[in-house]
Amino acid sequence: MTLIDPATSLRAAFEAHGQAHVLRHFDALAPSVREAFLAQLGEVDLALVARLAKPATDKPHAETHIRPAPYVALGGNTTDARAAGEALLRAGKVAAFTVAGGQGTRLGWRGPKGTYPATCVTGRPLFRVFAEQIAAAEKRYGCVIPWYIMTSPLNDADTQAFFRDNNWFGRNPADTFMFPQGTMPSVTFDGKLMLETPSSLAVNPDGHGGAIRALHASGAMEDMRARGIEQMSYFQVDNPLVRIADPVFLGLHTQPAHSSGEMSSKMVAKRDAAEKVGVFCDVGGRTGVVEYSDMPAELTNAVDAQGKLRFNAGSIAIHTISLAFLERLASGGEDGTFALPFHRAKKKVPYWCDAQGKTVEPAEPNATKFEAFIFDALALAAKSLVMETARVEEFAPIKNASGDDSPASSHQIQSNRHGAWLEKFGVRVPRRPNGDVNARIEILAETALEANDLADASLPREIKAGEDVVL
Ligand code: UD1
Repeated sequence: MTLIDPATSLRAAFEAHGQAHVLRHFDALAPSVREAFLAQLGEVDLALVARLAKPATDKPHAETHIRPAPYVALGGNTTDARAAGEALLRAGKVAAFTVAGGQGTRLGWRGPKGTYPATCVTGRPLFRVFAEQIAAAEKRYGCVIPWYIMTSPLNDADTQAFFRDNNWFGRNPADTFMFPQGTMPSVTFDGKLMLETPSSLAVNPDGHGGAIRALHASGAMEDMRARGIEQMSYFQVDNPLVRIADPVFLGLHTQPAHSSGEMSSKMVAKRDAAEKVGVFCDVGGRTGVVEYSDMPAELTNAVDAQGKLRFNAGSIAIHTISLAFLERLASGGEDGTFALPFHRAKKKVPYWCDAQGKTVEPAEPNATKFEAFIFDALALAAKSLVMETARVEEFAPIKNASGDDSPASSHQIQSNRHGAWLEKFGVRVPRRPNGDVNARIEILAETALEANDLADASLPREIKAGEDVVL
């Protein structure tokens, strides 16, 4: 029997798909780097890339029947839901899951976004905020809430180091499970794979929808099964106000009248038509999120008879997802996409330029990236709940360096939330004419997870204008 050299068989496969150009430097590479490059090439699903690289044939949303999705509005009676959610938490059936694989380019922060100092007075990094909240919920419900964190190959080592350096924020390291998501190769507009260096392809993280595959491949799903987890609280790394263990949301999600208990979501009323959030819609009878960039302008701007936005259910990217549903998604999909489709985006992707002998940063978008979105799984749930929540309570994301969704806007919303909590218990809080709290107020998770937890706390009678307060 003759052994076929792996480089030879890979070369044949890449030639057959018109992609052999990525091996043009191979013979000149040092033997030490060849192996890693071959491993990377071996992971590329050439047939999938060929299929995705073809021009999009999906119907634009304008042609599909889109209506606003129904949702459970704020203000209803939530007593039963709260009790059901608390029982799930006490029984140790709830896990936390953070998607932290994004590149955070808009914020301009060097390092994983979860290491960004996010809170308005003490500057606690996002990961610490979440860890403290999880620890406070564990204490309250007498349970362990295992925390799964999806990183990317680009930030995994730095994220791991951050947790180590911070002694896992005082929690048992065995209850935090970190794993990198997968990648997809970027392609030129004519479908060719690109080199980033002579010995590596240009690749990008495969989107938060890559979580399905990564949760499965990393053994996280198996770990949840072994721990008796039934539901997973999903949230993005950029939102310091997320309520990770929300009994009301968990409870509603498991009530058959509202949801099949597979995947539910939270929404806030959109700030205005231009806000860059996905919108919950009913697309052909199924709940889904239509991303702001895909929403036809006439729908984005449509108003009802009262002048209210018709499509006002903004996604804050918070979901409860059952383990059983995740396992079903992980076993689905015909082509390794784990049941979720890939979206295409035109981006600026650094590439290797032979003529200049270096990696070049393009000035204009030069490539297509493929990313899967977790919210596409909503359409696969039998019945999906969308629950309204108050923006000031749960949504202050940090995405941009300035303006909307920036550290400054997040700090103001944090103070507004905590000011309102204090006012509920008679504390005088200074406010500006526009209603914003005129002080910086940070309430730690160990003090209160929600306003009512302040009932027994010792509180100041008054906050002074411009004061910094940590409780
Ligand atoms: C996202 C949602 C949008 C929602 C808004 C709420 C998408 C496409 N859009 O917008 O509908 O209204 O949040 O804040 O998600 N991530 C990974 N791996 C990846 C890509 C992203 O883990 O490959 C993580 C990021 O670390 C981040 C989150 O996903 O936690 C969101 O990513 P981002 O691309 O910044 O989405 P937005 O445009 O902010």
